[in-house]
Amino acid sequence: NITRHYKFDIKLQNVTRLCHTKSIVTVNGQFPGPRIVAREGERVLIRVVNHVQNNISIHWHGIRQLLSAWADGPAYVTQCPIQTGQSYIYNFTITGQRGTLFWHAHISWLRSTLYGPIIILPKRNLSYPFEKPHKEVPMIFGEWWNVDTEAVIKQATQTGGGPNVSDAYTINGLPGPSYNCSIKDTFKLKVKPGKTYLLRLINAALNDELFFSIANHNLTIVEADAVYVKHFDTDTILIAPGQTMNVLLKTKPHYPNATFFMAARPYVTGLGTFDNSTTLGILEYESPLTSSVGSIKILKLFKPTLPTLNDTSFAAIFASKFRSLATAQFPANVPQTVDKHFFLAVSLGTIQCPKNQICQGPSNSSKFAASMNNVSFVLPTTALLQAHFFGKSKGVYTTDFPTSSLPFNYTGIPPNNTVVSNGTKVVVLPFNTSVEVIMQDTSILGAESHPLHLHGFNFFVVGQGFGNFDPNKDPANFNLVDPVERNTIGVPSGGWVAIRFLADNPGVWFMHCHLEVHTSWGLRMAWIVLDGKLPNQKLPPPPSDLPKC
Ligand code: C2O
Repeated sequence: NITRHYKFDIKLQNVTRLCHTKSIVTVNGQFPGPRIVAREGERVLIRVVNHVQNNISIHWHGIRQLLSAWADGPAYVTQCPIQTGQSYIYNFTITGQRGTLFWHAHISWLRSTLYGPIIILPKRNLSYPFEKPHKEVPMIFGEWWNVDTEAVIKQATQTGGGPNVSDAYTINGLPGPSYNCSIKDTFKLKVKPGKTYLLRLINAALNDELFFSIANHNLTIVEADAVYVKHFDTDTILIAPGQTMNVLLKTKPHYPNATFFMAARPYVTGLGTFDNSTTLGILEYESPLTSSVGSIKILKLFKPTLPTLNDTSFAAIFASKFRSLATAQFPANVPQTVDKHFFLAVSLGTIQCPKNQICQGPSNSSKFAASMNNVSFVLPTTALLQAHFFGKSKGVYTTDFPTSSLPFNYTGIPPNNTVVSNGTKVVVLPFNTSVEVIMQDTSILGAESHPLHLHGFNFFVVGQGFGNFDPNKDPANFNLVDPVERNTIGVPSGGWVAIRFLADNPGVWFMHCHLEVHTSWGLRMAWIVLDGKLPNQKLPPPPSDLPKC
């Protein structure tokens, strides 16, 4: 059995973008961070050493962590942070997954600069269920701020207002020519004519779903969140923070004497301020050997057109195109029956400004709060998983997470789901519970799409719709045959999504909106999955180097 070893030295590095130089937290001085590459079935050991003043933890986003919850990474959920001068070895085996995922810091807003791709290759001697690509290219979308990350966080959490928006979107850390001083910082993909390229797309942006397109080229989607999907062609994709997608790009058969731009720009729903700019990259055909006669390379420039800012119908249609392969080799093990139903109202609202604090929320005496079933989740000061494992839940969390929301009517204007209270409330699930969760957007501050991410599992997206979920009508239309299997799904703006998963992985598993600002405002909760009876259904004790709080 093969083990892959990595060392992540967390250290500061000066990085210049948009003519601003700032010192950012990096892995090994790289921005974006290094790639993790492994095959399905292999073990990965990553030794993370913290050389900076910040507390650190790293999450392997989308890795199932079967029986290895201690390696999942969200700070105060599965571990205490790695403090200055300390180290921790993340140790996990990649089970039943192949495709693209990513790693990112999971504490405060440090993932704004700490992120990188995870590439899971098929087992040796197994091929892709699609044409073998000539080349594979990871492309990771991010956001850049000229100010310090700390200043951005402060704005969004302490004063309770909206955060400062980013100054640029980036592709592999590069803003591209539409921004100040950035022509040299442009992502370039050099291609040969008549070949197939596998683009491994990752949205690591903090707060924006992104449209992405390459001028005059189609993309064929073959995988999402490290699960193969039925192929489909599109000229534009929509990718939410936390989502990953493998797409095939076929280059034109002849050198077309042109330069093609690729572009990414936000899909924004609801209210608020955001960076409405576009990051550009370049698809560059290699000159044929015969062009050495000093030819002018760029004869024509093509730019893609992206959907409009708020194109919710594009979003809904695009989301509905994803289907599992559901073949003998890659079955879709959709739970056909449900042991426990949950209804989660996903809301943005406000909460009273705490005493002795200055709040800049929607009205002077309030700050933003985001909630699930009217609970705005507060992280404890020790890790939930340790508290659970050692039977020390008292004073850390309570198990009274509400299984349904206060009554509301989404279609009322404004929707009336406004009550929010703070709490560290979890749901406890016996091993192998088959779970269905309806997530309903009920925001009072404008309906907004929320990319909900579940740790420790893939779930099947069995249904989605607009308006109020109707328990008497909607389940009849659920897809229990070939629904897509993902770890992050957009709860549609002004609508709902239904997911199912089998709770076959003991541990404590975070679920939250992958828009960092909403997570910070409390749009998060945790599931505790209990051990099963058999030895291979129990979470082993923590490794000896697990950080202490
Ligand atoms: Cu990618 Cu809890 O996150």
